[in-house]
Amino acid sequence: MKQDLEAFHARLAAHDDQAINPSRNPSLEQLIDSGRRNLLKGSLTLAALGFMGGGLAACRGSLAASPLLGFQGVAVQQAEDFDQVLVPEGYRARPFFSWGDAVLPDAPAWRPDARDDWQAQLGQAGDNHDGMHFFPFPEAPDSHGLLVINHEYVNPTLHPNGMTLSDGRRPLEEVKKEQAAHGASVIEVRKDADGQWQRVMPSRYNRRISGFTPMRISGPLAGHEAMKTVADPSGREVLGTFNNCSSGFTPWGTYLICEENWHNYFVNHDQADFARRVSHKRYGLANEGMSKLYGWETADARFDATPDASQPHGGYVNEPHRFGWVVELDPFDPDSQPVKRTAFGRYCRECSVLSQGEDGRMAFYSGDDTKGEYIYKFVPSGRFDAANPRASRDLLDEGTLYVARFGAEGRGRWLPLVHGQGGLTAENGFASQAEVLLNARAAADLLGATPMDRPEWVAVHPTTREVYVTLTNNDGRGTRQPANEANRRPANLHGHIIRWNEEGADPTATEFSWEFFLLAGEPEGAKTATGEAVPANLIGTINGDLFSSPDGLAFDGAGRLWIETDYEDRDPAMQAMGCNQLLCADPQSREVRRFLVGPRGCEITGITWSPDYRALWINIQHPSLSYPASDGSTRPRSTTVLITKDDGGVIGT
Ligand code: FEO
Ligand code: CA
Ligand code: CA
Repeated sequence: MKQDLEAFHARLAAHDDQAINPSRNPSLEQLIDSGRRNLLKGSLTLAALGFMGGGLAACRGSLAASPLLGFQGVAVQQAEDFDQVLVPEGYRARPFFSWGDAVLPDAPAWRPDARDDWQAQLGQAGDNHDGMHFFPFPEAPDSHGLLVINHEYVNPTLHPNGMTLSDGRRPLEEVKKEQAAHGASVIEVRKDADGQWQRVMPSRYNRRISGFTPMRISGPLAGHEAMKTVADPSGREVLGTFNNCSSGFTPWGTYLICEENWHNYFVNHDQADFARRVSHKRYGLANEGMSKLYGWETADARFDATPDASQPHGGYVNEPHRFGWVVELDPFDPDSQPVKRTAFGRYCRECSVLSQGEDGRMAFYSGDDTKGEYIYKFVPSGRFDAANPRASRDLLDEGTLYVARFGAEGRGRWLPLVHGQGGLTAENGFASQAEVLLNARAAADLLGATPMDRPEWVAVHPTTREVYVTLTNNDGRGTRQPANEANRRPANLHGHIIRWNEEGADPTATEFSWEFFLLAGEPEGAKTATGEAVPANLIGTINGDLFSSPDGLAFDGAGRLWIETDYEDRDPAMQAMGCNQLLCADPQSREVRRFLVGPRGCEITGITWSPDYRALWINIQHPSLSYPASDGSTRPRSTTVLITKDDGGVIGT
C-alpha cells in the first residue's frame, strides 16, 4: 500500500510539475541594470539576494520574539514512522472529516477494505481534501456553520487493489468511483452543549459535488463554439469539476472551487491536430498513450479529446475547454446549480483569493501552478454592495483579467488580457475576448508576463491588503526560462514567498511594489547528513523554523500569516525538514515558528477558522501511513483536522 502510494505520488509530481511554457519572457539578465548585473554573475550569493531583496539579510538577525506568535513551536519530525498530527503544548488536534465519511443521509458507512462502490462514494467524503472555507450562519456565527472542502484528486487507496487495467483499459466501475471522489463536500458543523465542534447529521445542507454534477457555464465562453461537444451542443452545461485544489470565497457568501491540473485527465491522439491546437498543447494534455494519470478515456469517451469529424462538434475535442475555470457554489442553497465563471480565464488555477477595497471594488488573485507559469488577478467590473448582496449574483461574469509582470527595482505591473490590446488580435490567433480567456496562457506569453516558480496560494493581509504568494519550488526552469528578477535561484527546490502592495492599496490598481518575504531552505552554514556544506541554492533566509516548498497560505484576523508546506518528505534534500508542516509568521518581524507537523508522506493543505478564530481546520492530504487510525494496518485517509486550544483561546495566541 505504502509503495503504491509513493509510486503514484512520484508519477503525479512528475506530471504536475512539467514545464510547458514555450515563451522566452524577460529574464533577469534583460531586466537588471548593468551595475546590478555584476552582482549576480556566477552563482547567486545570499549576500546578493539580501541586498536585492530589500533588506532580507538585515532582518535575519532580529530574534526578538514576535508578539503575534504566542505559542511554543514544535520540533521537526524526522522519524520514518511518524504518524501523528503534532501541535504545540496547550492545543489539541482531532480528526474531523475523513475520506469515506458519510455526507448524505443515505450513504453507507465507509468500508476499510475500499470495497465501497461508486454510488456509495457519491454520498461519502471524496479523496484528497484541499482548499476549504467555513461559512457561518449569521444568527450564531461562532458556533454554527457550513464547512466546504475541496477533493482534489484520488489515490490508489481508493480501490482494494489500486488503479487497475484490464486488457489495456480502466474498469468503468473504478473510473466512476474516481470521478465520484473528486469535487467538494458541504458539511454542516455546530458546537454541541459541551462547546465541542461536531458534524450535524443528517443535514439539509450536506452536499457532494462530484465529477457528475451538472454545472452551468457562464460568462464570455457560455454557448461559444469552443465549448460545444457531442453531449452538450449548447456549450452551456458541463458535468463536474476535477482537480479542485485551493479555493476562494466571495463577500456575498459563495465558495469558489478552483480547477487546477485538469489537463491530466485528457488525451488528444491526433499528433497533427495537437501540434496546432494551442488550447491543448499550451496546457500540456497528453498526446500519446493514455491520459497522464488516470486513463479515464479508455472507459469514458468524454475524456478522449481526439477530434472526431464523424460526430457533431468533433466529439469531445472541446471537452478540455470546459475545465480550468472558477466554479461558484452557493453552500446555503443545496439545490443551486454550481456555475463555471469563464471571465476568470482558463489555466491550471490554484486559488482565487479576494481583496476588497473600501468602495466595494474587488480583485481575485490566482496562481497558475506549473513550472514557469504566471500570477493573475481578475477584477470584476461591478462593485460589491453589502446592502444588496443578491445583486452580486452574476458579478463574476464581467471584468478584466490581468497577468503580473515583476520588474526591476521592486516595481511591477498588471497587464490586461483584453482583446485588441497589446497584440491580442486576430492576426496573432485571438479572434475574440472569448479566445483570449480560453487561451489565457498563450495571451499572457504574448504580453510578456513573468514566468514564476510554480505559484500556489495567495493571501491578502486583513488590514493593509498587502498580498503574499507562495512560489512553491522549481527544479526545472531550464535554459528556455532562465532566472528572472522574482525567481532568482537556480534549481529552486525549496521555493520562496513574495509580497506586494498595490498602488494606493487599491485592489484594482495596475501597478505595485514588491519584495521577497523569504526564501525557504536551510540556514547559512548548514551541513548535509554526510557532513558536506549544503549547496548555495538550498540556503534560505528564514528568520526562525526550517521549512521547504511553501504552498497553502492564509492570514487570520489578527494578521498572522499561516504557511503550509508540500514537499516530498522522503527526498534526501528534505532530510532536515522532516514531515510536512504548518508554520506561522509575523509579517513585520518575519519571524517564522512551526505550529504543526503532519504524518509521514502527507501534504498539509486547506485552512479555515471559525469567525472568532478559536477553531482551526486544516487538511492532511494523502498521508502514507495509516493516519488517522495510526494502527499500522488501516488504509490511510485524507482527513480534515480540527485544532482547538485547551483554554478555548484564539489559535496562535
Ligand atoms: Fe494542487 Fe498546486 O497544488
Ligand atoms: Ca497546492
Ligand atoms: Ca503543491
